[in-house]
Amino acid sequence: MNIIEIIEKKKNRGILTYEEIEYAVMGYVNKEIEDYQMSSLLMAIVLNGMTNQETFDLTDVMLNSGEKIDLSDIEGIIVDKHSTGGVGDKTTLILAPLVASMGIKIAKMSGRGLGHTGGTIDKLESIEGFKVNLTDKEFIEQVNKVGCSVISQTKNIVPADKKLYALRDVTGTVDSIPLIASSIMSKKLASGADIIVIDVKVGNGALMKTIDSATKLANLMIKIGKKYDKEVVCVLSNMEEPLGKNIGNGLEVIESIETLKGKGPKDLTTLVLTLSSILVSLSFNITEEEARLKLIENIKNGKALEKFNEFVKAQGGNIEKIALCDNVVSVKSAKDGFIKSIDTYKLGEIARSIGAGRLNKDDEIDYGVGLVINKKVGDYLFENEELLKIYCKDTDISINEITECFEIVDEKVEKNKLIIDIIK
Ligand code: URA
Repeated sequence: MNIIEIIEKKKNRGILTYEEIEYAVMGYVNKEIEDYQMSSLLMAIVLNGMTNQETFDLTDVMLNSGEKIDLSDIEGIIVDKHSTGGVGDKTTLILAPLVASMGIKIAKMSGRGLGHTGGTIDKLESIEGFKVNLTDKEFIEQVNKVGCSVISQTKNIVPADKKLYALRDVTGTVDSIPLIASSIMSKKLASGADIIVIDVKVGNGALMKTIDSATKLANLMIKIGKKYDKEVVCVLSNMEEPLGKNIGNGLEVIESIETLKGKGPKDLTTLVLTLSSILVSLSFNITEEEARLKLIENIKNGKALEKFNEFVKAQGGNIEKIALCDNVVSVKSAKDGFIKSIDTYKLGEIARSIGAGRLNKDDEIDYGVGLVINKKVGDYLFENEELLKIYCKDTDISINEITECFEIVDEKVEKNKLIIDIIK
């Protein structure tokens, strides 16, 4: 077997065997296969696809490329949640303590920002003192005591994905359903939970631009989960506009706290309740409607917020000190009208460019900067009414570039449907 034969086989639409996939992936992890050879194979996969069996095999090889998390010392039901990435997506910060407030355990490893999308770990680090690196023992102890913990990846989990993802990011080979499904599922399977809900974002701010491609991805991830006896449910949610109002790390923590108090934006609250209800319903074998009512009750009686405070304190954070830039620029609308569309990808890029994310791997984040969007698709606004606020250190940003992200028209516009589908 050699890598050139494997590349040629995929180029000619052949079906790779487990051994061939293992040879290529592990050879790449072990530095026996070069970047340019792996890039070529990845591009052949992007163009010619993979069968379900090939995708299962690729997931298995990636899953076994490193360590797995052992959660056997955690008592009770353990659940996990994943998002394919969006703009203003702070659902984990709300969902983890909310679900934990019901007595369900959530032991979560999260990532940093990627491209135009933010990352949970960066958001948590905007709270002064918050530790994202815990030892295995501290992590397990906290989950048993508090009910939830969110940490950055410490162990050598799925090293194949780490290397392949970095290569895909710079070779135009991210947008392939088998590659995305195996990348996400290998990490979820290595993280040990039994019930997994995946928020598959759809729209101009997401990886999946169409409902059709998002549905294919969801079905494939559910099939992979079944192979390993894991219950996977996918929620397709709208990413044609940012989720909630706030984009930027500290700002997103502030909005999460408001949501835990029951005062959050409707779309964010609805998505959190939808994802959480699925987890609670499967954990306690009750209907999603019953689960939703119990979750709403825990927001109303303050238990969810209490759990959030306990979780932040347990990881060393001071909830009184959340990074927030004190220079605020108000951006007004140039005309009357309804918002027809929002270029969500571009807004994510703008937030990144003012310091909310990294342009290079080692860039420092400015946790206090970001945007607060006052109006969403379907909303009406008057000329000179505030469209958004920019929290930034200097005012050297193009206001035009930001307002161009919003298409304003005279005719009435329907609001976007947030929950597009739930696939089980
Ligand atoms: N998220 C992942 O973890 N992997 C992908 O390939 C895409 C999104």
